[in-house]
Amino acid sequence: MASNKKVMIFGGSYNPIHQGHINAAISAANYLKVDEVWLMPRKYNYDGSLLLDGKYRIEMINMAIENLNNFKICDIELKDKNAKLIYTYNTAKIIKKKYPDIDFYFLIGTDQLNSLPRWYKANELTKLFKFVCYKRPGYDIDINIQNEYDVMIIDGPLVDTSSTIIRSGIFQKIDDDIQQYIIKKQLYLKERVMPKLPEERFIHVLSTARFAKKVALSNNVNTNRAYVAGILHDIAKGLTKDEIYEIMQKYFHNKLNYPKYCYHAFASAYIAYFDFGINDKKILKAICNHAKANKHMSKLDKIIYCADKLEESRPFANTLNDIRDLAFNNIDQCFIEVLKFQIEYLKKQNDEIDQSIFEMVDYYSRRLTENGR
Ligand SMILES: [Fe+2]
Ligand SMILES: [Fe+2]
Repeated sequence: MASNKKVMIFGGSYNPIHQGHINAAISAANYLKVDEVWLMPRKYNYDGSLLLDGKYRIEMINMAIENLNNFKICDIELKDKNAKLIYTYNTAKIIKKKYPDIDFYFLIGTDQLNSLPRWYKANELTKLFKFVCYKRPGYDIDINIQNEYDVMIIDGPLVDTSSTIIRSGIFQKIDDDIQQYIIKKQLYLKERVMPKLPEERFIHVLSTARFAKKVALSNNVNTNRAYVAGILHDIAKGLTKDEIYEIMQKYFHNKLNYPKYCYHAFASAYIAYFDFGINDKKILKAICNHAKANKHMSKLDKIIYCADKLEESRPFANTLNDIRDLAFNNIDQCFIEVLKFQIEYLKKQNDEIDQSIFEMVDYYSRRLTENGR
């Protein structure tokens, strides 16, 4: 009698997939002599929160397994509508019912093995799927758990990387086409920005991005552009003044006559372009224009300019509630109010006031009246 088909399922968040996943899967699959490997991306984090939209993760998995004929994607958990499949046990029941004649292995890492007793219905689960643990250096196997759940242990080479490292923008052990995809689709922006800024600044840019996105939505402006410009508008603030000045000299020579407080805005656009692959001119312009208003401000530029000053982590945020509300109804009017607020603020601080800001208040006020609004 022919023996049953053997399939190894490898569940994970694949956020994103990297060579560590692939190598572990190949080693284990060869050892077990399975016919197929099914990579099964989770929809939810272990805490039940949502992961990056599955369609992106699936596309990246497809790129990674393009040349691996017996690798497939099992998207049953991604398609789950009512959060039933947070638990692997529930998924296993469905799979086993659908394919009663397949012998299933389920691949896990050492960290997962040691938490197995806390998995939902672990006893029943490990009877539906034969559990296989890929041993990672640095983790000790708990023999009691291994015996209790009859887990097979496989030693194998380890690729030293993790999805967390990759999300932070260190693209090691990850295929070139996946790197390009992450940049092109602007994935993991938050995670990639975080290590580049001091904590307080990171909170500011994230808050700016979220606020800008909401304001864009109610002003019929592309929300993705607003978010991206918002989160990158101060990205150069992680650099020293000298480094910023160097970028200015090299790439923005004709802007060296601008006030110094504008330099970081241009340098941020530079980093957005070169390090984050942002080539959308509207986004780059909004980043450039966030520090100093000029006569060519688009709606997006105004949104970023205002969001930068109005976002809620600013120390003076609670004095600006009325202007903040205005951003949602009339960004043009809001922009003028923000400029006026800046003048008042600078006066109170006895700071030097850039005269162009008065001009801008006049210019945009006139335009607003001319437009009959
Ligand atoms: Fe700034
Ligand atoms: Fe800012």
